[in-house]
Amino acid sequence: MNEVSYKELGFVNTKEMFKKAMAGGYAVPAYNFNNMEQIQAIITACVKSRSPVILQVSKGARDYANATLLRWMGRGAMEMMKELGDPVPAALHLDHGDSFELCKSCIDNGFSSVMIDGSSLPYEKNAEVTKKVVDYAKPRGVTVEGELGILAGIEEHVSSEKSHYTNPEDVEDFVKKTGVDSLAISIGTSHGAYKFKLKPGETVPPLRFDILEEVEKRIPGFPIVLHGASSVLQGYIEMINKYGGKMDNAVGIPAEQLRKAAKSAVCKINIDSDGRLVMTAIIRKVFCEKPCEFDPRKYLGPAREELVKMYMDKNENVLGSAGRY
Ligand code: G3H
Ligand code: 13P
Ligand code: ZN
Repeated sequence: MNEVSYKELGFVNTKEMFKKAMAGGYAVPAYNFNNMEQIQAIITACVKSRSPVILQVSKGARDYANATLLRWMGRGAMEMMKELGDPVPAALHLDHGDSFELCKSCIDNGFSSVMIDGSSLPYEKNAEVTKKVVDYAKPRGVTVEGELGILAGIEEHVSSEKSHYTNPEDVEDFVKKTGVDSLAISIGTSHGAYKFKLKPGETVPPLRFDILEEVEKRIPGFPIVLHGASSVLQGYIEMINKYGGKMDNAVGIPAEQLRKAAKSAVCKINIDSDGRLVMTAIIRKVFCEKPCEFDPRKYLGPAREELVKMYMDKNENVLGSAGRY
């Protein structure tokens, strides 16, 4: 496999982004994409709102879109950004890498940042594989995200009923041992659209900011990452249910909690499910209102427009990353 450096594709790693986010009290958005409309919407929204951005690709997304095509989509996105006006800094990031080989392959294919998620492994094994990835990434200028603690929900084929919060006592040793550039922690968020099982009258439990503070004390100024941070926007859930869907009890992280996190050492906030909900809601609406429509542009186009609005709102009103470039 020929090595392609992310620099040739126009991406940056996350080092400078996180330094600025830490100093500025905001978080950089990490939005997942699997297809053309999603990446177009992310780029458009982030250029319009002048926000740095992390274009995030999971293992499943990479398999879905094809690794080679993905690299060119990334390059195309950077070129499109230039056409839209002043480009903003963008990283191409592997989300939840589950092996050294996958991380290496992404690094060799132009990714500027990778996550090695060894969070389901015993501590020493997690540290070992994470260090191996760092040793390969560092000389190539690629930044590495590690993870300690397990989120409830689905973590790359590992399904966990309950959260295993990050133990703050581990973080200093893990960061020292591995040399990672950022650390994902578990403080009560979870993946997907069904984050909490609430009984009638119950509200979403607050994030464990006490754990975050303990972590910050032990590794001051170190970039922290929050996964599973979709708000599961209720307007879109209502739209999905109204137009034939069935998403009962879907609930996410309130925007207020994310705003608070973004002001702390949390420098990267991962959002995937909210994008999925927007696309599904709009496509369902078009299908119901215009049952004769069969041109994909007529339903993917409106979905893309709505995605742009949603991402801009996140940048402006939740993460605080708008106007930072
Ligand atoms: O955290 C997981 C992301 O939402 C990616 O999900 O593995 O289904 O692409 P995926
Ligand atoms: P959500 O499912 O809350 O969007 O989380 C996405 C994520 O953490 C991707 O790594
Ligand atoms: Zn995640």
